[in-house]
Amino acid sequence: MSHETITRLPIVKGSVRTLRQQEELPLLRGHLLRLDPASRHDRFHGFMDDSFIERYAAKCADDGTVIIAYIEDGVVRGAAELHPPDQSPDSLPEIAFSVEARVRRQGVGSILFKKLIAEARSKGYRSLRITTGAQNQAMRALAHKFGAHLTFRHGESTGTIDLDRQPMPEPAMATPADAARAMVNANRA
Ligand SMILES: CC(C)(COP(=O)(O)OP(=O)(O)OC[C@H]1O[C@@H](n2cnc3c(N)ncnc32)[C@H](O)[C@@H]1OP(=O)(O)O)[C@@H](O)C(=O)NCCC(=O)NCCS
Repeated sequence: MSHETITRLPIVKGSVRTLRQQEELPLLRGHLLRLDPASRHDRFHGFMDDSFIERYAAKCADDGTVIIAYIEDGVVRGAAELHPPDQSPDSLPEIAFSVEARVRRQGVGSILFKKLIAEARSKGYRSLRITTGAQNQAMRALAHKFGAHLTFRHGESTGTIDLDRQPMPEPAMATPADAARAMVNANRA
């Protein structure tokens, strides 16, 4: 996915695109720091403090992690992370998701997931790994929707997503149906 790719979402008012590494780091950091304590806990498996999150965002900007962001009025409200395979012992790229509470359950996580799969495919990856807390119903539902088979161990669930078995993603730009829906929503508003 190129940096310019922008998809209009039909229901929520923002757009989705890949963040520019380094330059747009503050947008990711701001989003992660805005996560409420429970979401931070879910996203970082218990690591909660600001300094951890700041170091984490800086590392993402440096190590080749691709960040696909949901942006409203120039502010990142959701992010999908695609980490390079060389960071995991068995060379499977790790993925992770975060959506701020006020825009949840409107399909933002799902569209980020779709874009992430398209990006992973374009890099030639065959499968991805996701790890989440065993109690994290939302992430488990989202991962399940995209074909992850999660297994449980020590309070965590880990799953792999086989990209060869995923349906092809929708085109990067909004489809005519999306555009029509967006117009309907705009008219309603
Ligand atoms: C997990 C998370 C990213 C989901 O984002 P979202 O934008 O709400 O996701 P969506 O609206 O696309 O929902 C995806 C699916 O999960 C389901 N879902 C979402 N939240 C749910 C919940 N709390 N309980 C059960 N199912 C849930 C939705 O119904 C939807 O399924 P559907 O399309 O069949 O209806 C978000 O809850 C989050 O950021 N949580 C905190 C951080 C975190 O836990 N990250 C995971 C660690 S990697």
